[in-house]
Amino acid sequence: MASYISYTCTVLTLLLIFCVQSEAKLSSKFYDSTCPNALTKIRTVIRTAISRDRRMAASLIRLHFHDCFVQGCDASILLNDSCTITSEKNAAPNMNSVRGYRVIDNAKSQVEKICPGAVSCADILAVAARDASVYVGGPSWTVKLGRRDSTTANLSLANTQLPGFGDSLDTLISLFSTKGLSARDMVALSGAHTIGQAQCFTFRTRIYSDASDINAGFATTRKRKCPAYAGNATLAPLDLVTPTSFDNNYFKNLIKKKGLLASDQVLFSGGCTDSIVDEYSKNRTKFESDFAAAMIKMGDISPLTGSKGQIRKLCYAVN
Ligand code: HEM
Ligand SMILES: *[C@@H]1O[C@H](CO)[C@@H](O)[C@H](O)[C@H]1NC(C)=O
Ligand SMILES: *[C@@H]1O[C@H](CO)[C@@H](O)[C@H](O)[C@H]1NC(C)=O
Ligand SMILES: *[C@@H]1O[C@H](CO)[C@@H](O)[C@H](O)[C@H]1NC(C)=O
Ligand SMILES: *[C@@H]1O[C@H](CO)[C@@H](O)[C@H](O)[C@H]1NC(C)=O
Repeated sequence: MASYISYTCTVLTLLLIFCVQSEAKLSSKFYDSTCPNALTKIRTVIRTAISRDRRMAASLIRLHFHDCFVQGCDASILLNDSCTITSEKNAAPNMNSVRGYRVIDNAKSQVEKICPGAVSCADILAVAARDASVYVGGPSWTVKLGRRDSTTANLSLANTQLPGFGDSLDTLISLFSTKGLSARDMVALSGAHTIGQAQCFTFRTRIYSDASDINAGFATTRKRKCPAYAGNATLAPLDLVTPTSFDNNYFKNLIKKKGLLASDQVLFSGGCTDSIVDEYSKNRTKFESDFAAAMIKMGDISPLTGSKGQIRKLCYAVN
């Protein structure tokens, strides 16, 4: 009898440990039995979207970042305004700037067709970011899965916890560190600015500053399409050399004082991250492997797992 009880207890304990672990941890195999074709389906939608609009690769990587920094990677950024939700889409860093919502909504509806109620929007965002990187020549990585979707959004956190284009190096380091990301992670992740575009109002102050940390010829070129008092929404490439390919030119630009945003150039302006920028500018392989590792780390920020949150049916609304 005693040994039976002890055996039962051992089994129960093992079960408990297993359950607690499977609730807490993301795993790349999460959908292997519940939706084995999910990743293929998502990739097809992402590839189609980027083949039509190459900038979409940049937009999708940024979308995952802006999701993860607000309440964790829980697809809160995708929720639209409703009676119970004040959408993060209207936060200053997102409004008229973040793109790709419809691509994710489309991927979700394709995945719902093959496995209803199984795959979260938060995981679709993480997979889309990886697929986007691969499509434009960037690194690949194994995406951990099992995030669930929030039933809330937080506009004020989106306004305060996402970094801004005028932030100092200290501010950037501290914003990332509150998310468990090091200064090195921050520099590697900023390398996402090797692709994509920014609007004139985000870099105007810098190009008209006549400061010593900007290349004069670069400033003159940028001023042509970004006048001092007009053209707020006119776009310029974040990486002037290869704006649609993922490489380490972003870091080479910083060394030449050709960073577009002030928050780009502060990474190489006599501060403690100069040596990291220098290293990445010389070693694309090292940058890409650090970027991949940092994306995995970012994707791990406060996920909802187990019975927390829900699997939304539509990414833009709670069930
Ligand atoms: C370090 C702090 C960061 C700041 C201050 C910052 C700021 C910005 C700003 C101001 C823009 C232009 C938005 C616009 O004009 O509409 C932008 C674009 C972009 N950001 Fe960042 N960012 C940062 C980090 C990151 C990170 C960590 C990622 C991803 C891992 C990222 C990915 C992108 C991409 C890909 C674009 C181009 C988006 C597009 O073309 O649609 N950024 N960022
Ligand atoms: C959700 O909001 C976005 C952006 O605000 C809008 O374009 C879209 O039409 C909305 N979707 C639905 C289904 O209401
Ligand atoms: C947003 O987050 C802040 C800080 O955690 C919290 O005080 C506030 O209640 C949240 N707002 C909503 C709408 O959840
Ligand atoms: C352009 O952007 C600046 C700085 O963000 C802002 O003060 C100004 O009102 C904007 N102008 C227009 C026409 O939207
Ligand atoms: C670049 O980084 C990789 C990966 O860390 C390393 O193996 C290689 O030796 C580095 N190359 C140079 C030229 O330093």
